[in-house]
Amino acid sequence: MTSSGHLHPAHPDPRTFYRTTLELGDMLLHPWGLESAEPDALLNGLVVAAADPLIALWNPLAISDRNDALAWLQARDGGWDAGVSASFAVRNATDGALLGSVTVRWVDRADGLAMIGYWTVPTARGRGVAARATRAVTIWAFQTADARRIEVAHAVGNKASCRVAQRCGYLPEGTLRDSHRFGDGAYHDEHLHARLATDPGPADRAESPTA
Ligand SMILES: CC(C)(COP(=O)(O)OP(=O)(O)OC[C@H]1O[C@@H](n2cnc3c(N)ncnc32)[C@H](O)[C@@H]1OP(=O)(O)O)[C@@H](O)C(=O)NCCC(=O)NCCS
Repeated sequence: MTSSGHLHPAHPDPRTFYRTTLELGDMLLHPWGLESAEPDALLNGLVVAAADPLIALWNPLAISDRNDALAWLQARDGGWDAGVSASFAVRNATDGALLGSVTVRWVDRADGLAMIGYWTVPTARGRGVAARATRAVTIWAFQTADARRIEVAHAVGNKASCRVAQRCGYLPEGTLRDSHRFGDGAYHDEHLHARLATDPGPADRAESPTA
């Protein structure tokens, strides 16, 4: 996709994230927000996910109870409302169980520069959930929000995140020294990866979602 800026009548601002549900066969990516608070299971799922040691270390959610979870959902709604961030709950298509989350947000909206992040619940790990969901959101952001470049930064010690980035076509660009403070309170070096809209996708072509 080029940054020609052609305007879809329903989408007047090309650099805006609009609430969308992405269907990936056995998984659904549904916009996080207060609507997702309706099923108790999702709210509880968020509290449980936040307590997972790996999420607490590499992607802290600042959620320790249902009130925190509600506030977190409210913030996701705010991101969608302003078009500045797109945060998706990754759910099992059959029973709606929470599998994980993928969020893409503008770093420099005018420049088309965005950043993406992801987590999966422990029971969903190791079967391609993060890679498939992140690939789908990546393609969606390039195709519908005119993203030009999307970055992923992960702690050097977070090998699983490194693999997810690579599996999604985010090429390694180098190491950022002491660049981010993680859940252990310490600054860690991070690997920076990025994918350009003009980059070819990764070898696995079965990545396009149905919106
Ligand atoms: C990182 C995380 C999202 C990976 O989720 P996942 O659903 O298990 O990932 P996938 O199943 O899609 O696996 C993608 C790749 O990572 C690899 N991988 C998964 N876990 C791994 C691990 N612990 N060590 C090394 N590689 C791993 C998989 O083998 C796969 O690579 P392959 O396709 O070459 O075999 C998950 O571990 C997590 O939520 N961690 C805590 C939060 C976090 O780190 N978020 C990212 C912050 S930058």
